[in-house]
Amino acid sequence: MRVRRCAHLMFEPREALQFDLDSLVGGGDGLRTELSLLALVPHNRQEIAVSVAEAALLARVPCTTWTDLETLAATHDPDGIHSLIARGLLIADDADHAADRARDDRVREANWHTLSAVQHYFGCWDGVRSGDETRRAGYVTLQDLIAKLGEPPPPAQEHSSAAARLPLPPPQTSDFDDLLRRRATCRNFDTTTALAQTELATMLHRVFGAQGTLQINGGGDTTVIKRNSPSGGGLHPTGAYVIARHVQGLACGLYHYRPLEHALEPMRGLAQDEADDLALRSVAAQAYFAAAPVLVVLAVRFPRNFWKYRNHAKAYRVTTLDVGHLSQTLYLSATDLGLGAFITAAINEIEIEQAFGLDALVESAIAVCGFGHRAAQRETPEFDPRGLVWRTDGTRTR
Ligand SMILES: Cc1cc2nc3c(=O)[nH]c(=O)nc-3n(C[C@H](O)[C@H](O)[C@H](O)COP(=O)(O)O)c2cc1C
Repeated sequence: MRVRRCAHLMFEPREALQFDLDSLVGGGDGLRTELSLLALVPHNRQEIAVSVAEAALLARVPCTTWTDLETLAATHDPDGIHSLIARGLLIADDADHAADRARDDRVREANWHTLSAVQHYFGCWDGVRSGDETRRAGYVTLQDLIAKLGEPPPPAQEHSSAAARLPLPPPQTSDFDDLLRRRATCRNFDTTTALAQTELATMLHRVFGAQGTLQINGGGDTTVIKRNSPSGGGLHPTGAYVIARHVQGLACGLYHYRPLEHALEPMRGLAQDEADDLALRSVAAQAYFAAAPVLVVLAVRFPRNFWKYRNHAKAYRVTTLDVGHLSQTLYLSATDLGLGAFITAAINEIEIEQAFGLDALVESAIAVCGFGHRAAQRETPEFDPRGLVWRTDGTRTR
């Protein structure tokens, strides 16, 4: 048998403070510090406690080439080696460890930058209810936050005195400014009105559709698509996975949007209560967002971007910036159609990926957006200081 270290691995020395009655009784501060060393392994999203000796052994096993197990066992504790294999930190080339090897191969082949892989896979949630912790801690409004945390840093940095500033002429305005100003994150969806299919089609086409294509003859069949948003390397690795809850003439369920054909691929039919439940779990229990008739998961196919930006320190950042651009195009497209829209990154990626059957090592959710008709009456606060969406009595302006 041969072994190699898993493709991506980082060590975190972690410190946890534990309540300690003995310390308190003995006149101490009642706290005990527990130190541990964790191996962070993106291919199985696991934090694995290791000893310093195990970390030293891992540091001596190459990850690009295979080492004969017997050769390694001649200089290192064989039980320790087998324990690292069993925990997926060392990858073995035998049949018993094929599943672990396949997962490691998929992350390896995706050309991740190690820090980014750790950041992404350890930032994913499963079963989280956003806001529960802050509510428990008493942080609900901005006023609560200021009372507990003090003032936030100012809205803009100051680099000179007021006298040194150069005043600019008033900005030009056009209808576009009106559209930009009316954009506001919607937390009040009309739960009775279905979205028309043409509204859904227009939104998907404007935001995710191919507005033009370029064929490149490089021996294969490479198609480059143009969207209404920029994308790092022009690669557009972001896919649109639709949770359709309430669309006229469209069965409730999960779909994938095909940007070139402007068509939906049905992935799974859902009963209404299943779709409602998935929507709520997807947005980590933010009920005001789950009420949107359509939610769209923005999932990045990392190997597509990393095909060009291999093991690149900026590549992951670029993919998340792409998602941000798509979300602004989605907001503006919705505002233009008289719809409300939202984005949230407080999402349960793992539940979303399971529901759609996505292989997270290839394609993973970064954000969830949604859109639909706004309610007639505002119940949940929105950020609309100029009153362009809501009147002071909570009724809609248009
Ligand atoms: C990446 C991103 C994540 C966000 N996540 C949440 C969220 O989890 N919950 C929420 O209520 N709003 C979320 N928002 C919306 C912001 O709260 C909102 O954009 C901000 O308050 C400004 O309001 P506006 O969009 O109406 O101008 C998010 C916005 C962005 C850009």
